[in-house]
Amino acid sequence: TNYENILVETRDNVALVTLNRPKALNALSSSLFHELNDALKKVDGDAAIGAIVLTGSERAFAAGADIKEMRESNYIDNYKSNFLGHWTFITSVRKPVIAAVNGFALGGGCELAMMCDIIYAGEKAVFGQPEIKLGTIPGAGGTQRLVKAVGKSKAMEMVLTGSFNLNAHEAERAGLVSKVFAPEVLVDEAVKTASKIASLSQPMVQMAKEAMNQSFEQSLANGLLFERRLFHSTFGTHDQREGMLAFVEKRKAKFNHN
Ligand code: HXC
Repeated sequence: TNYENILVETRDNVALVTLNRPKALNALSSSLFHELNDALKKVDGDAAIGAIVLTGSERAFAAGADIKEMRESNYIDNYKSNFLGHWTFITSVRKPVIAAVNGFALGGGCELAMMCDIIYAGEKAVFGQPEIKLGTIPGAGGTQRLVKAVGKSKAMEMVLTGSFNLNAHEAERAGLVSKVFAPEVLVDEAVKTASKIASLSQPMVQMAKEAMNQSFEQSLANGLLFERRLFHSTFGTHDQREGMLAFVEKRKAKFNHN
């Protein structure tokens, strides 16, 4: 497929999706999101792909929702079109998604990164929620996921001032980001990790992701029950038999994703 706002390539068992509106610092327009959703749907359904990396440019992962596109929209249009409803598709992708963030991840860009499963940052990354300065508030998870990612005080200061940003190392210390790399190796490192994950049993990886995501939605007791039932079900698979047999036979497991 030829997209206008994104690039999609495959590196072995990993799909690399690059946001590509450089002139607008990858501002997240509706058409960009429709293309992103289309690409994610395809790679999620492609058995040859085990994990996904989402990145932008060295200057910007994404500088937010497209302000020029949304500035004149009004309440009833937003309501009728369920504006931003299509932003949530990425959270229903079953394969793991690693965000590789270089440069600005502001507003919707920070929120998009937080919808991914793992965030790697380049040393020049900047995470922030400047919406308040535009006379609005975060609308795609910034008031919810950010609190869980960096704690209340930092999240409040980021969202309420709109100008308190986290650099890559601050974001790592706060727990928003799992690793920081030099900008030029960031994407390769993200692909390496994605490839490692993709070489494991895909159904196990997806079950583990599903179970961890329940921790954001459920009480502890329900989350633990969900986890245990999935754990039980793994014993109905080839890959559990093979993984444990390989351990006993002191060899590398050969998963067939069944
Ligand atoms: C539309 C944008 C944009 C955006 C940048 N551009 N961000 N266009 N929407 N969010 C455009 C600029 O207008 C400019 O186009 C070009 O990209 C380059 O940007 P500059 O501002 O010239 O670059 P620079 O001086 O380096 O400043 C970079 C920046 C700044 C600090 C990132 O662009 C900025 O503050 N952007 C807006 C960040 C923001 O407020 N994000 C939150 C958006 S609201 P021209 O044509 O002038 O060259 C949001 C709401 C989320 O995300 C709610 C639900 C999702």
